This record gives sequence, C-alpha cells and structure tokens, in this order.
Amino acid sequence: MKIISAPDYQSMSRKAANIISAQVILFPNSVLGLATGSTPLGVYKQLIEWYKKDDIDFSKVHSVNLDEYCGLSGEHEQSYRYYMDTNFFSQVNLPIENTNVPNGLAKDIDAECKRYDNVITSLGGIDLQLLGIGHTGHIGFNEPDDDFDKTTHCVKLKQKTIDANARFFENASEVPQRALTMGIKAIMQAKKILLVANGSGKAEILCRSLFGPITPEVPASILQLHNDLTVVADEEALAVIRGKYPSAIG
Ligand code: F6R
Repeated sequence: MKIISAPDYQSMSRKAANIISAQVILFPNSVLGLATGSTPLGVYKQLIEWYKKDDIDFSKVHSVNLDEYCGLSGEHEQSYRYYMDTNFFSQVNLPIENTNVPNGLAKDIDAECKRYDNVITSLGGIDLQLLGIGHTGHIGFNEPDDDFDKTTHCVKLKQKTIDANARFFENASEVPQRALTMGIKAIMQAKKILLVANGSGKAEILCRSLFGPITPEVPASILQLHNDLTVVADEEALAVIRGKYPSAIG
C-alpha cells in the first residue's frame, strides 16, 4: 500500500488525476472503475482540463461506475448516471456507449445485478478502480455487514450514509434508502486501486480501514489485502494515521 499525502484538496485531486492520466496514456483502452460523491469532483475537473489541453485521450476507454441509487432515473439530478454525465462524460471524449452505471430503475434487481457483473467480466475486469470512502467505511455502497458481499447487489443504506448524502437532496427523507452497488470481488479484482479521501471527517475511518482489523464491519479494510493500492489523501484526512503510523505516509 502506498499512502501519498497532499497539502489540500486541489493537490489531492491533481495527484490522483495524474495517476489516472498515466494509466490512460500508457494503456489507452483501459477499463476505469469510477466513483461519484464529492471527493472525486476535483479529480474529474482536473482530467477535463488536461483533456481540453489535448494531454489525454479517452476515446478508447471503457468505464464502469460503482453504484446507483434504486428508484432514480439517469435524468434525476441526484442519480449517479446524471452526476457522471454532467461532471465528466459530457466534457471529455469518452464515448457514452462505453460507459456503464447500474440501472437504478431496473424492475428485476437480481437480473440487473447479474447483467452488471457480466458487463464487468466481458470487459475483462477493471484496470484502475477509483474509490472514495464513506463515513461508515463503505466503498461503493458496500455498507458494514456480517460478510463481504462479493457480487453486484442491492443494499439498504445505513442511516449515517443517508444523513451524509442528504446534503445533495432537499432533505434526508428524499434520499433513496436502497442502492445497487458493485460487489467487493470486482473491486478487489481491479488491477490497481486508487482511493481518495479529504477532510477531517474521514481521518478516523481512513485509519481504521487501512490499519485496523480486516472485517466486513469496516468494508474498506479489505483493501489492505490488495497488492496495488494507492491512497491519495489530504493532510486533514491523514491526521489520525500521521499521529499513529507516521512512517506509513510516503
Ligand atoms: C460513490 C461511492 C461512495 C462514495 C463515499 C464517499 O460512487 O461509491 O462510496 O465514494 O460515499 O462520498 P463523498 O466523496 O461524498 O464523501
């Protein structure tokens, strides 16, 4: 595991974007696993800037997103399809037909989960998976549980996650209670994982995830078992790790 520290959000975003950019320059037909949420917004912004300067070409890239709220169509402003289209896909030359987000409106949820796993398999798996981390330690929407859920599945969101995401909705009651999420297996089978985190609110859970016991109670703790994990975090998110394991930060 490599932990890279950044002085602030902008620097975290630029460093993480550099890693994604290197992946796409070296391997133009990469499969990128993408995340939503507020943390990666700066990463997408930076990638768009470099694309506009002709420094990156996404024309051969395929993407698979981690998750989607159940019950929201891709046109809903808080759906993750809408987020990706608005904040990234519409601003770079990644062909929209190469992009994949679970269908939150699927009637047959089991069939949709199987379809999504098949999409990932048919693409040959993920080359680089971008992850944020939730306050519960979730990755994608894999919430704390008794077991690690391996395949794409439907989850009931924890109240803490609903409360954290309420900031994007009129109020907490509008946040969907359930979501479809890629499972731990596809995430762990990604060739490389890039986890981004910023802000003091993530400091405790980041430390527990990277240095605590590996347990489905802290889903991100499974990442300790990945052999190519890079964490890019700002100093606030690294505060607890810096206090307890200073030599772990590169
Ligand atoms: C979103 C996702 C989530 C977020 C996490 C952190 O696709 O997979 O795991 O990464 O909830 O969200 P922010 O970045 O908003 O703190």
